[in-house]
Amino acid sequence: MTSGPPDTKRIRDIFDQLAPTWNEREARGERLLMGPDLRRELATALHGDVLEVGAGTGMTFAHVDWDEIASYTATDLSAGMLAEARRRPDIEGRPVAFDQVDATALPYPDASFDTVTTSLTLCTVPDPECTLREMSRVCRPNGRIVLLEHVRAPNRLLAWLQRRMSPLQERRMGCHLDRPTVELVREMGFPVEREERRLFSIFRLLVLRPLRQAA
Ligand SMILES: C[S@@+](CC[C@H](N)C(=O)[O-])C[C@H]1O[C@@H](n2cnc3c(N)ncnc32)[C@H](O)[C@@H]1O
Repeated sequence: MTSGPPDTKRIRDIFDQLAPTWNEREARGERLLMGPDLRRELATALHGDVLEVGAGTGMTFAHVDWDEIASYTATDLSAGMLAEARRRPDIEGRPVAFDQVDATALPYPDASFDTVTTSLTLCTVPDPECTLREMSRVCRPNGRIVLLEHVRAPNRLLAWLQRRMSPLQERRMGCHLDRPTVELVREMGFPVEREERRLFSIFRLLVLRPLRQAA
């Protein structure tokens, strides 16, 4: 893949370095903050030809009902994260392909997938709107987009704390703690079919229909 803009290269380098310790770090964070069930809920919404954007080390694989899956394309910017994902025993004998691609320029034709999903990645991509448009473009018109994200809290004190803490997290791993992702999704016009909230509504699971493509 091409090197991309400087911020993209920085994020790729960061996640290449984090990859060997990501599973432990992420599992701890999920146990303490998000809770165990949201990722399971996300996985139950996956079916048919699936594209996972920013798949990282494949934390979702263990929860997928493989009887529902025709093909599963796991993508990420970081070769290091994908190398960890490839090693997961959960996918042995499963129809999983890996592509190192940038979420803001997906190299797939329009309407290629039944489900397009991402978890904890719209906080990190340089341009979440462009990423959501790309996810919608490659989703079939009767397909679903499934998001699991941490977002800006509705509570003003929590949102203030997130804003104060975000610069450190952005420097450490390119992750923005206070992105208004749910508002963005609604402003872009995605029909929201289902929404789940955890931890003062900071964690959200959203099941969306894709945007209507211009004729
Ligand atoms: C916080 S991790 C989440 C990984 C995984 N989805 C999970 O739930 O554990 C964010 C992931 O997004 C990937 N990422 C960041 N920017 C990206 C981009 N522009 N295109 C594709 N992946 C990107 C990172 O490499 C990293 O694997």
